[in-house]
Amino acid sequence: MVNRERNNRLLDTLKLPGNSQCADCGLPDPDWASCKVGVFICLQCSGVHRSFTESGKVKSIQLDNWEDERLVQFMRRNGNLEAKRKYEAFVPPFYYRPRAGDCDVLKEQWIRSKYQREEFMSNTEASYTTAPREGFLYKRGRDSKGFQERRFVLCRSEGLLKYYTKDNGKGPKGTIPIQSLNVTFQGEKIGHQHGLEITYVRDGQTRNIFVYHESGEEIVAWYNCLRAARFHYLRATYPQASEAELIPKITRNYSKVGYMEKTGPKQKEAFKKRWFNLDSGGRKLLYYKNPLDAFEKGGVFIGSKERGYAVRDGLPQGMKGNNWDCGIIIQTPAREFVLTCENVKEQREWLEALRDVISRPMTREEIMEEAGFRRKRPK
Ligand SMILES: *[C@@H]1O[C@H](CO)[C@@H](O)[C@H](O)[C@H]1NC(C)=O
Ligand SMILES: *[C@@H]1O[C@H](CO)[C@@H](O)[C@H](O)[C@H]1NC(C)=O
Ligand SMILES: [Zn+2]
Repeated sequence: MVNRERNNRLLDTLKLPGNSQCADCGLPDPDWASCKVGVFICLQCSGVHRSFTESGKVKSIQLDNWEDERLVQFMRRNGNLEAKRKYEAFVPPFYYRPRAGDCDVLKEQWIRSKYQREEFMSNTEASYTTAPREGFLYKRGRDSKGFQERRFVLCRSEGLLKYYTKDNGKGPKGTIPIQSLNVTFQGEKIGHQHGLEITYVRDGQTRNIFVYHESGEEIVAWYNCLRAARFHYLRATYPQASEAELIPKITRNYSKVGYMEKTGPKQKEAFKKRWFNLDSGGRKLLYYKNPLDAFEKGGVFIGSKERGYAVRDGLPQGMKGNNWDCGIIIQTPAREFVLTCENVKEQREWLEALRDVISRPMTREEIMEEAGFRRKRPK
């Protein structure tokens, strides 16, 4: 029988500072606990803990039995703040700490790194910053749809990520400058939950490449090594900036991705299905014929309301969508863009993400970029 009173007393412990959010992903009101490491966690994170914890030591606060007074005492003595002090003592500044909305592989490896591998209980930063980083990743061909094994080498002294085909004698097949690199997990789009999208600028164009590794541990290590290299580059480039200023600059993530349909500039053309990425930091909505294309087909600069940008739901009078009817109209000083979404939920998410950008005033640099963006795309 579950002793409600005892469980309620345990819940009082939960109310201590730090225990009101999942120790691993920050989700509010966690109602699971690991009695091995002494943390309060959410249901999803509890699943990862259970995979490396003796049975019976990952418990639900509401539903499980807490008869054993020693466990209750243990939870009281430890808790999220104490565990953080112990298991996160040496998390390197560039290391990505996943949040509830992040993909599973990031959250899972964060939990394993902390408690199973005890990676951050001593200083292991060098394994990201100086230890050689090379190995095979599956990379999607630029023009062929398949993924092939490529050897990737991070050359920190040159500030380059290089990759090679099996035929090593020929020199690198590609070199990616750390200076313009962004890297994000894009499992859904890549079709593999360990899928990484790496973007960089070459000859003024943004190129995307897509890679994955079968091992979650390996792909997250690659991800954090690339972050470390970006952090090093930023520190060298902006020596006056503080760590807190540089960390958000390590890499951007799209605030929203997915399919929409769009018409051409005259709005008489048929709607065509395109994949869209919204880069809020860069104020750009880019679209692709196929989600895994190497280059975008076009883009819309998303300015601020002060400068004549607006977004609203619906379609212009008399216009009908092709397959989808949930319309979005983006008003820019130059023209109107008409898009349709598959359903109301998608429409709402896109509207929210776009409004978020439009409500943010533009910096001087962004105003200059806006002008450049228009020159490049007269259409
Ligand atoms: C970035 O966004 C994607 C979805 O668009 C998500 O799966 C991923 O976890 C996010 N975070 C990182 C660090 O890539
Ligand atoms: C990388 O992200 C920054 C914003 O953090 C953006 O300005 C830049 O254009 C991005 N570069 C690429 C190649 O995606
Ligand atoms: Zn969690």
